[in-house]
Amino acid sequence: MSSPRPQLLAIEQLQHSFGGVRAVDNVSFALHVGEVAALIGPNGAGKSTLFNLIDGQLVPQAGRVLFDGHSLALCSTAERARRGIGRTFQVAQTFATMTALQNVQLALVAAEGGAGWVRDRLWKLHIEAGHSLLGQVGLQKLAQSSAATLAYGDVKRLELALALAARPRLLLMDEPTAGMTPDERFALMHLIVEVARQNTMTVLFTEHSMDVVFGFARRILVLSRGRLIADDAPDAVRADAQVQRLYLGEAT
Ligand SMILES: Nc1ncnc2c1ncn2[C@@H]1O[C@H](COP(=O)(O)OP(=O)(O)OP(=O)(O)O)[C@@H](O)[C@H]1O
Ligand SMILES: [Mg+2]
Repeated sequence: MSSPRPQLLAIEQLQHSFGGVRAVDNVSFALHVGEVAALIGPNGAGKSTLFNLIDGQLVPQAGRVLFDGHSLALCSTAERARRGIGRTFQVAQTFATMTALQNVQLALVAAEGGAGWVRDRLWKLHIEAGHSLLGQVGLQKLAQSSAATLAYGDVKRLELALALAARPRLLLMDEPTAGMTPDERFALMHLIVEVARQNTMTVLFTEHSMDVVFGFARRILVLSRGRLIADDAPDAVRADAQVQRLYLGEAT
């Protein structure tokens, strides 16, 4: 019998409001090592805000985020990245004027830290590692293309490669397949699940396509107006009357 995986992330009674809007309202849950879970909910439910609280872009007004059992309250975004929290964004963030390969090289150099001449040396060393990462996300043929010229689906793949450069243990992906065709969505999610399996990486992703959510997540967390209204296996979430009423009835 396999032993249960250890807990990696614990969210405890997290709260954050913008003016009178409770974007994240008393949310608690934990993620275990290697889990691939989806965070779903209507527009404005608080999904991106929750990610911002986990990766340190926002400071919670109450509650705690624990990673590996340690509170992240005093950790900057950079320190959280060093500890193993990676992130991709709802609107993909890459350096448009650089090639795909240069983008990945930069992410690899940044992940290793160091300064001055160390960075110059790392830059050259990382050509091979950069090609390897681009290969992992299916962009090897576009290594020398400027990021500005990539199709949106390829930009999302590049953003995934940038996040993987830091070898995250937890990857938060905010709408990783937005703007992609159905085929591209499934290919990217297959890739993410496979990378997670190979690296024992935990993934929490937001997504509006229910095909993707129910096809790839083993566990689904549902937010509505900042509150976590369900956290269960896909079949149980699909059958949940409150989730049906507040979200699945209207989701595309
Ligand atoms: N910087 C901000 N300033 C003011 N209000 C904000 C800010 N960011 C988010 N909000 C509000 O907080 C609530 C949650 O927003 P959030 O972006 O987290 O939702 P979401 O679930 O990611 O939505 P979507 O599916 O559209 O991406 C919304 O009411 C939103 O208008
Ligand atoms: Mg969002």
